[in-house]
Amino acid sequence: MRVLLFAGKGGVGKTTLAAGTAGALAVSGRKTLVVSTDPAHSLADALDVAVGADPTEVDAGLSACQVDIRALVDGAWEQLRGHLGTVLAGAGVDDVLAEELTVLPGLEELLALAEVARMARRGIWDVVVVDCAPTADSLRLLALPEAVSTYLERLFPTHRRLVRGLLAGLAGDGSSAQRWDEAADAIGRLAERLESLRALLTDPQVTGVRLVLTPERVVAAETRRTVTALTLQGIRVDGLIANRLVPAPAVSARGTAAGWLRTRRREQDAVLAALCSDLPDLPVTTVEHHAAEPVGLPALLGLAGSLGEGAAMLGDARPGVPLLAVEHVGGSGLDSEYVLRLAVSLLDETDPELARVGDEIAVTSAGHRRLITLPSVLRRCVVTGAEVDGAGLLVRFRPDPALWMR
Ligand SMILES: Nc1ncnc2c1ncn2[C@@H]1O[C@H](COP(=O)(O)OP(=O)(O)OP(=O)(O)O)[C@@H](O)[C@H]1O
Ligand SMILES: [Mg+2]
Repeated sequence: MRVLLFAGKGGVGKTTLAAGTAGALAVSGRKTLVVSTDPAHSLADALDVAVGADPTEVDAGLSACQVDIRALVDGAWEQLRGHLGTVLAGAGVDDVLAEELTVLPGLEELLALAEVARMARRGIWDVVVVDCAPTADSLRLLALPEAVSTYLERLFPTHRRLVRGLLAGLAGDGSSAQRWDEAADAIGRLAERLESLRALLTDPQVTGVRLVLTPERVVAAETRRTVTALTLQGIRVDGLIANRLVPAPAVSARGTAAGWLRTRRREQDAVLAALCSDLPDLPVTTVEHHAAEPVGLPALLGLAGSLGEGAAMLGDARPGVPLLAVEHVGGSGLDSEYVLRLAVSLLDETDPELARVGDEIAVTSAGHRRLITLPSVLRRCVVTGAEVDGAGLLVRFRPDPALWMR
């Protein structure tokens, strides 16, 4: 089973290309689901058929659905949140603070993606194609499982015993403590779902991101940042799709329209050439700007024709370069030397900034930060240096004599 995520800036053609790809994969004999997690659902408009919250077959081998985000939030989280608020307030936590503690950033999108993961795991489909919300949102969304799990883990287990004890003392009858246990269990289940979502998103054999862009400088710059950010999050980008390339007029063509197209195309080619040289290991496919709006399955299939045949469209599920690796490069005991390698295909715009925070390393690149929990051996080491090479970022470590023997 493969999960293909279509991400990119607003309006570049994510929905159109996700629907077209899904249609073409279905035609090639793969049982395919195309699902939208964008609250501004336009999958139905692109396919020109009604699309509901549950997967329904819209063509032979092709099912479609749009995640009902409101229902997910109202159903699962609101109840839990209310419960948690009451419990925290009961424990003497200030109302305002209780409210803050129960707001999880971007939970809606996250629940939508967890719903996609649930559908994917049903094992009915060979391919699940996901039409994501525009870049900024879906980026935050893709980083979320990790962020939220970390948040939950940090906030609640530490407070769990403390709050429980406090509640038992206050209420005397143990009912508040029981409610707290229920809320804590529900949070635990949410954290488990997020962990399973993260496992799915970071499995390069399963999940690949297609970044859609239009050949414009501003969009290309954002695409480079997105590649860095996704790589830092351990999510594999398996290709770029440059959409809306204008047709090049014949050399003999004269007149204003031909001149305009020639100039436009020359600019688009220049932007793509620069992008290709910045991201040498990512395949780029181009899709022409069609005169007629591609709406309805036949038109979408026509557009997807330029994305290759079924197998190529699916991408190869090769394991890829491990995004994070630790090597013992020499010495033994206190003289050991270790290298932590973080594969980042792109560090051109800003050099990464590194900071050691306890057992974690914070890597900031192109405005995105990722906290990497160090493998246990490196927690007893000190950082001795860092460098960037063609393959990514290398951080060197040596044992800390004060900690090593523990
Ligand atoms: N190659 C193309 N040729 C002609 N029209 C296109 C092409 N690709 C997309 N379009 C049209 O451009 C518009 C925007 O496309 P689409 O809705 O797929 O973008 P999107 O990235 O999903 O947008 P949003 O960020 O708002 O979800 C649509 O009207 C679509 O039909
Ligand atoms: Mg869209």
